[in-house]
Amino acid sequence: MNGEKPKKIAVIGAGHMGHGIAEVALLSGYSVYLCDLNDEILEEAKSLIDWSLNKFVEKSSINKNEYRRCMEKLTLTIDLEAAAKATDLCIEAVPEKLDLKKEIFKKLDRFSPQNTILASNTSTMSISKIGEVTKRPDKIIGLHFPTPPPLAKVIEIVRGKKTSEKTMEFAIDFVKKTKKEYIISKDSPGFICNRIMAPSMLLMQLIFDRDEYLPTQIDAAALNQGMIMGPFELMDYLGLDIIFDSSNYLAEHLSEDYNLVPRLKKLVQEKKLGRKTGEGIYKWGSDGKRPNIDLSNPADFDLMLLMKVQVNEAVKVFEEKITSIQDINTGMKLHYHNPLGPFELIESMDLKDLTRSLDKLADRYGKEVFRAHKWIRDGSIKTRLKQEK
Ligand SMILES: NC(=O)c1ccc[n+]([C@@H]2O[C@H](COP(=O)([O-])OP(=O)(O)OC[C@H]3O[C@@H](n4cnc5c(N)ncnc54)[C@H](O)[C@@H]3O)[C@@H](O)[C@H]2O)c1
Repeated sequence: MNGEKPKKIAVIGAGHMGHGIAEVALLSGYSVYLCDLNDEILEEAKSLIDWSLNKFVEKSSINKNEYRRCMEKLTLTIDLEAAAKATDLCIEAVPEKLDLKKEIFKKLDRFSPQNTILASNTSTMSISKIGEVTKRPDKIIGLHFPTPPPLAKVIEIVRGKKTSEKTMEFAIDFVKKTKKEYIISKDSPGFICNRIMAPSMLLMQLIFDRDEYLPTQIDAAALNQGMIMGPFELMDYLGLDIIFDSSNYLAEHLSEDYNLVPRLKKLVQEKKLGRKTGEGIYKWGSDGKRPNIDLSNPADFDLMLLMKVQVNEAVKVFEEKITSIQDINTGMKLHYHNPLGPFELIESMDLKDLTRSLDKLADRYGKEVFRAHKWIRDGSIKTRLKQEK
């Protein structure tokens, strides 16, 4: 970079996340090379970017000239070498498969200039492991965008074991240019937000598997309580394949409790991946229109359980020193739209009641990942958090 402003970015993978990341970079003034496997995928990505930018024009967030400038700065290519050439930053957004990501990073390392920063949008996987295949582990970083990237308020920056300070500064500068907030995580499975979210996703999968409630009933309860999307619709929206691969990774690297439940596995095997394929837990319109959820029939389900398992996991993240208390709270509020961060929530929680609820879940589903953390059980967490602040 030599202290200059970055000018060209390559985004590898033009799917659900890649096209959105490309749009964010375009809106931040960069020229973007968007790369995928074939022209059809790329043209679809381009029309989605066009559609989204036009929405910003309609809302007067950008003007027509800015729209035109963004579209002019977008280049589509199926040639990874051409995409990576003369870049300052490459962001990989291919499926959540470690071997595929390594293969892409190996090529990016070969084709991009020596100083180029190589970033991954992985949801869960080790940045350091991905970076091992390159000759520049100091220039490898995680840039984890929430979906959809143009509307995201925060980006999670993941520091690999060998990521240099200069690369961190570069990443922070990039995020600032996108006008989003950032949080910083150590390289640990699921990082901050997806690690804390994981047990609540698991709980939903178990409920789905055992047919305890209909997904529409749980989602209706969530929507009635003001959540912008219910947990089952969210899974479909994120992509069941992404949840499948992420759960497999967490099962291997964090706890085997995350092994995927049979019913979700079956949907993935049948290629019912959610919004992207038109069917998953729900049937989606061909235009990606949200499923109709009957709000008049909500489940009598305690949605606070979702928050309780997240608070428990947040305590583990705190104990493992993966990030700061502040970034945990900010991350869960801005990434997953929780009204309060886990450590803001815990302040008003009765720890004995929390311990009982968590242990009950652990016993009911046979999943130790739900078991109350020792600092919740012994009541010391609140003091520990105060001491840390
Ligand atoms: N879906 C989400 O909400 C979400 C959120 C945050 C992070 N992520 C992460 O972002 C990454 C991408 O997820 P997604 O949901 O966009 O997946 P996706 O399946 O929608 O898109 C992946 C794209 O990569 C392309 N691709 C595959 N192999 C390629 C190759 N060799 N070269 C170039 N392109 C290739 C595919 O054709 C596809 O278009 C994953 O690591 C995922 O974990 C996803």
